[in-house]
Amino acid sequence: MSDSQWNPRRNDDVQPDRSKKSQNGQQGHGSQSQNSRQSAGGANKSQDQQPSPSEHIDYPMRLQKFLARAGVASRRGSENLMTAGRVKINGVVTTELGSKVDPLKDVVEVDGKVVKWGAEPVYILLNKPEGFVTTMSDPHARKTVAELVPTDKYPGLFPVGRLDMDTTGVLLFTTDGELGHLLLSPKHHVPKVYEAIVMGYMSEEERKKLERGVRLEDGMTLPARVDIVKKGLNKKNNKSITLVRVVLTEGRKRQVKRMLEFVGHPVIKLHRSAFGPIKLGNLPNGSYRLLTEDEVRALREAVK
Ligand code: URA
Repeated sequence: MSDSQWNPRRNDDVQPDRSKKSQNGQQGHGSQSQNSRQSAGGANKSQDQQPSPSEHIDYPMRLQKFLARAGVASRRGSENLMTAGRVKINGVVTTELGSKVDPLKDVVEVDGKVVKWGAEPVYILLNKPEGFVTTMSDPHARKTVAELVPTDKYPGLFPVGRLDMDTTGVLLFTTDGELGHLLLSPKHHVPKVYEAIVMGYMSEEERKKLERGVRLEDGMTLPARVDIVKKGLNKKNNKSITLVRVVLTEGRKRQVKRMLEFVGHPVIKLHRSAFGPIKLGNLPNGSYRLLTEDEVRALREAVK
């Protein structure tokens, strides 16, 4: 990185606002304003890249919003930087709080250093709770996973695949369009581990059938790993239930539920405990953390 290319996330001079959301290694929790939601890809654009037609891009944006989203400082802190004459747009000192900037075209400097717009890709693990739709914005104003991850700090975050509204567990987010795409590509067969509580006692025959593959309306499922972990009784109604672990290397819509239903065992509860090398561990329900460098490396290995 040249001196003139300043990545604010690494800068010790002007610190990002750490009061609200997590930084590397820390966990975040809670919800975030609907206004901060953005669709995929925004953070990853270099100056000459164009947004895809499907993206919602709120450019140009107010300079203080740009600085906050780039991780330079809080909005208030950014305003202070501006009024102190420390910020330039395209070489011109800008103290006017209403100034707007287009992150794809304009060059913004703080203290003479260029602010990079989302240059470092970000990778986040969320323990998705029930009741949130996997989308970054919802026309029906339902609760979305965007409320659970720091989109203000890392604009352009998008979820890697989907979990149903009532499914809990591992949901990855990134601003790295390329890796996100590879992880979802059917070519790479990245294994996903699910724990499902199903109605009834699953037989060995049914288990083997699931492992071999079953014919769903969108075709045969690939061979999978299915283990019967435990059989017991539902505390609520005293009916028989089975805890099964399913490892899939494909990711069709509602696949686990449809497979289990196919063999006569509707799912009561579904949880994803791992996505490729990334395991949930003890991350609390509804919390997120940044992936470690080792984890990101392992994800890259998984799609080689
Ligand atoms: N399979 C399902 O049926 N639902 C999910 O949320 C994920 C996988």
